[in-house]
Amino acid sequence: MDSSPFAPTFGSWPPVLAGRSDLEDELRIALSSGTRHEWYTTLLVGSRGTGKTVALSLAMDLAAELGFHTIYELAHPQLIERLTAHLLQIEGKPARRRKKVSATVGFPGMASVTAESESGAEPDRSLQFRSVLESTVKRTVDAGSTGVLIAVDEIHDIELADLAILGGALQIVSRMGGHPAAFVGAGLPKIDQRVLDSTGTTFLERCARYDTGLLRRNQTRQAMEEPFVAANLEYSQAGMNRGIEASAGHPFAIQSIGHHVWALHSDASKKIAASTFDKAIETAIASMGRQVAQPVWKRLSDLDQRFLCAMAAYPDDGVPVAHIAEFVQRNAKWVSRYRDRLIKASVIQQAGRGLVSFSHPAFKSWIRDNVEAQAFGSVQSYS
Ligand SMILES: Nc1ncnc2c1ncn2[C@@H]1O[C@H](COP(=O)(O)OP(=O)(O)OP(=O)(O)O)[C@@H](O)[C@H]1O
Ligand SMILES: [Mg+2]
Repeated sequence: MDSSPFAPTFGSWPPVLAGRSDLEDELRIALSSGTRHEWYTTLLVGSRGTGKTVALSLAMDLAAELGFHTIYELAHPQLIERLTAHLLQIEGKPARRRKKVSATVGFPGMASVTAESESGAEPDRSLQFRSVLESTVKRTVDAGSTGVLIAVDEIHDIELADLAILGGALQIVSRMGGHPAAFVGAGLPKIDQRVLDSTGTTFLERCARYDTGLLRRNQTRQAMEEPFVAANLEYSQAGMNRGIEASAGHPFAIQSIGHHVWALHSDASKKIAASTFDKAIETAIASMGRQVAQPVWKRLSDLDQRFLCAMAAYPDDGVPVAHIAEFVQRNAKWVSRYRDRLIKASVIQQAGRGLVSFSHPAFKSWIRDNVEAQAFGSVQSYS
């Protein structure tokens, strides 16, 4: 068979982009209508592998199509210096309108720019950045561009001083000054904590917010099924349904399951059997464990982890909060605080009255397979 069209790699464009038409509509209206529109500065938030980078790329494509210059950076140290270098590069040049054709998330035109490190006091950095932003935007508009879109990925890692400078500049140049500098940031839900810790910047709180989250069932079906239909491949409907179910609407899981089904099926003239889907699901869930659950787990506190162990120890998907309280030997108030934290981080979700479940089943199997057995003290009593 031809090589798989699925894209089980972080940051790569999927064969079918599902469930983002609402975001696309909001951004198109905002970027066409001007700096006062709420979505002119947007924050994309979601847990690992839910499609933030791809959505950021969608925003950049859209902006380029509307005549914006686009700048993409990761929120690593020296962000302001790197953004400044990008701005200086585009100053005075008209943006070339591009047709929106994202085959890969390549961030066109974004040759990496190495910036000289700035020394000097914070106020100087701030003033300098604001003035470069303002003059670049003005000149690029004079040269015929619509404006400049700044896209910042992994924004949960931003240094608070950089956030204050970036937010302050966008506030003054764009929101107050009316110069078309648009912004889209993308990051993990822990950005909320980061913003709470910061003083002096309400910039991110004022951005329109889009949760990438899990796709709905019809969107999941579209993302998983369409590449097979487009290639005229016949498949077991029961197997496809199990694939859709197992992905739980998680974008990375959809790509991974689709990819493994494709790779396992060698003869394009034959119908893809349900058992091929089952094998692919098993492989994909294991890889989700390594690539999604493990990195999330490592970033959680000991107490968050205990909470999740209590959930993994329970035999059913819906776990009563009373069971968690008993398992971790804490009161209801403690459990409800940690439940809220973990829901915010998109690790778990509400599953009915008094119940929670993992936002993706791969978390449960990964914890069961990888966390020390003693953490599951009471597993035995349930099985
Ligand atoms: N809307 C979508 N429909 C189908 N597949 C998608 C969609 N968005 C993203 N994907 C796929 O999901 C996977 C993860 O996408 P992406 O790298 O954008 O996630 P992310 O949230 O940025 O991840 P991370 O938290 O690691 O930065 C990729 O394989 C991508 O092709
Ligand atoms: Mg990403």
